[in-house]
Amino acid sequence: MINSPQSFLGMPAVLCSRLMRDLYAKVERISRSSVAVLICGESGSGKELVARAIHHYSNRSTKAWIDLNCAALPEQLVESELFGYERGAFSGADVGKPGLFEMANGGTIFLDEIGDLDLRLQTKLLRVLDGVAYFRLGGTKKVESDVRIVAATNRNLEELVRTGKFRPDLYHRLAQVCVTVPPLRERIEDIGPITTLFLSQHGDGRSFTLDATQAMEAYSWPGNVRELRNVVIQCALLANEEEICTLDLPESIQDAYANLPHAESDLKRLYAAVNDGLCEIKHGVGLSRSLQNGAMLHDMEKRLILQVLQRTAGHQERAALLLGISRSTLSRKLKQYDESGHGVAMVAEGEE
Ligand SMILES: Nc1ncnc2c1ncn2[C@@H]1O[C@H](COP(=O)(O)OP(=O)(O)OP(=O)(O)O)[C@@H](O)[C@H]1O
Ligand SMILES: [Mg+2]
Repeated sequence: MINSPQSFLGMPAVLCSRLMRDLYAKVERISRSSVAVLICGESGSGKELVARAIHHYSNRSTKAWIDLNCAALPEQLVESELFGYERGAFSGADVGKPGLFEMANGGTIFLDEIGDLDLRLQTKLLRVLDGVAYFRLGGTKKVESDVRIVAATNRNLEELVRTGKFRPDLYHRLAQVCVTVPPLRERIEDIGPITTLFLSQHGDGRSFTLDATQAMEAYSWPGNVRELRNVVIQCALLANEEEICTLDLPESIQDAYANLPHAESDLKRLYAAVNDGLCEIKHGVGLSRSLQNGAMLHDMEKRLILQVLQRTAGHQERAALLLGISRSTLSRKLKQYDESGHGVAMVAEGEE
């Protein structure tokens, strides 16, 4: 099922848009081998989720998953953390301890925020990643570890390599395959379903009005899914009514919605589309941006949607594409028309 969230090592994932479904199909294929994967993408876009999915889909899924935040590694502890130590290796080492690489044997190690690792630590890390057997600190027995490496960063590693801030040999060791998670603004079909997931976790039975959902779909989400989660939690906490409306949204989202630069021209295209009987529609009319409320617009919107659906023989996905709105927004609107007694029975549901 596309619309019910999957879960990767306990993290729920909503994967509705074509972009995300394609990405996760690629992730599933990559997972079958043991190549090192570098996951790139903006902050909050879902890189850790991809890393967990790689482990989940792989034949290592029953073995260890070790998660290491490279930005928070204290330099003096790096070697003992990574390589482990024997009893008496240094003062305070009363018992021996395996390093993270030893603990991850047979499984996956996730090197998060790898772009924040300083150069000296990069050299130390490379030593283990090279797969050469190493010693625990104070040890005499060589340790070998079979580990799949997955790394993630929101920084441009190639640029860091060019400017001498990231070792090229480490880069090539980590980036045997690269995966880029698209930002949320490039997959607006995911916004509604992810909002629904967060509401089911934090919403206490609340929902967003259609207008508020459209405002959220029009926003650029620089903090991506993490920002969306914060907005949903904040709205669920602060909204007075059961239905969360546009005015309950943070000002940044309301402002962006009110100041859409193309709203006017979209509106003109929308008028033209309705009046011209849709002859000219080829690339969508930007309906989502044109909806600044009002009964006339509402009526025009409905006429347009029904006409487009008729033209696509009831095929909702194609109609949504022509209208420039997400499939989930279209379904919601049709449901609304149905409930208000202005049914859409004339439109047969096309095969999907
Ligand atoms: N597709 C999704 N479905 C549901 N929740 C998601 C999805 N993508 C991300 N999230 C949630 O959004 C939050 C941020 O995701 P994640 O930690 O994977 O981002 P990130 O890319 O690693 O960010 P950063 O670069 O800041 O570390 C997490 O709480 C995660 O569970
Ligand atoms: Mg992360």
